[in-house]
Amino acid sequence: MIDLKRIFFYLPPKIQQKIFSINNNTKSFIADEFLFSDIGKNYGLDLKDKKNILKKILENLKKVESATSLNVHLTLLKYLFLIPKASQGTIVECGTYKGSTAITLSIAANIMEKKLIIYDSFEGLPNGENNIKRKYPHLKLTGYYKKGMYCGTLDLVKKNINNYGFIDNVTFIKGYFNNSLKKHDDNIDFLFLDVDLTSSTYTCIKYLWPYLNNDRYCMSDDACDLSVVQCWFDSKWWKDNLKSKPPGYVGSGCGLNISSSYASLGYAYKGKDENYNNKYPWLVDQKTKK
Ligand SMILES: C[S@@+](CC[C@H](N)C(=O)[O-])C[C@H]1O[C@@H](n2cnc3c(N)ncnc32)[C@H](O)[C@@H]1O
Repeated sequence: MIDLKRIFFYLPPKIQQKIFSINNNTKSFIADEFLFSDIGKNYGLDLKDKKNILKKILENLKKVESATSLNVHLTLLKYLFLIPKASQGTIVECGTYKGSTAITLSIAANIMEKKLIIYDSFEGLPNGENNIKRKYPHLKLTGYYKKGMYCGTLDLVKKNINNYGFIDNVTFIKGYFNNSLKKHDDNIDFLFLDVDLTSSTYTCIKYLWPYLNNDRYCMSDDACDLSVVQCWFDSKWWKDNLKSKPPGYVGSGCGLNISSSYASLGYAYKGKDENYNNKYPWLVDQKTKK
């Protein structure tokens, strides 16, 4: 039987907002989890607070053109609120377009009393990587990017964050990543990349991954694009540039399981061996072989 609740989240944001205001029990399983689990409890959030956040996100998605979905926004919050309260790192977004996801990140930054740094050219993509044909095998989708795509000006992004989020904790850094990221020197607790291009992804990794704290996530919205995802598995590049092994990418090709068919969101996890605490029955200990 078709799950009517899930259809809700394939509707345009405008209609979602309408239905939500009539019956705010209409949600996806991601929204259910966000509202009714312990997500945000460590930051003092209760059900009422989370309903308000959800309403703010729906308002954001209705008013600001976005390249990300509601489920992506809620999943970013889920991973953000995993960060221990005492942790000192910043939140960083690379690739903001008109600032929609940044609005949600600014809501989190306000609750978590963290700084949010937004890096973008504010002139759209630097080039189209004409030599790279994008391939989304899970969707049989292909095509090319073009210079200037996804342009949101700095003024517009500031206005949107001011109107729908919280601008006080936000720092905006304008420029192409190969210049702007060189000066980055803050420890990072949460990194969100939505940069489309393979070259931009490598640049973000090169300059920001070393600042990502241990046991933290770099989430990205380019999970379906294999030419972007391969950056996270490129042993030679990681060895040459960061003298480490590639972390891999969870959600390669079809994204995290936050939607019934595919999702654009995935992540690389920066974890040392001691962060892997869960044992599975079919894996044995190397020493004891048990
Ligand atoms: C898909 S859009 C981001 C969507 C956005 N996160 C949202 O919430 O709608 C990609 C963004 O990456 C930026 N971008 C990509 N590569 C860049 C680079 N090398 N330097 C600066 N900005 C870049 C573009 O300007 C654009 O704003």
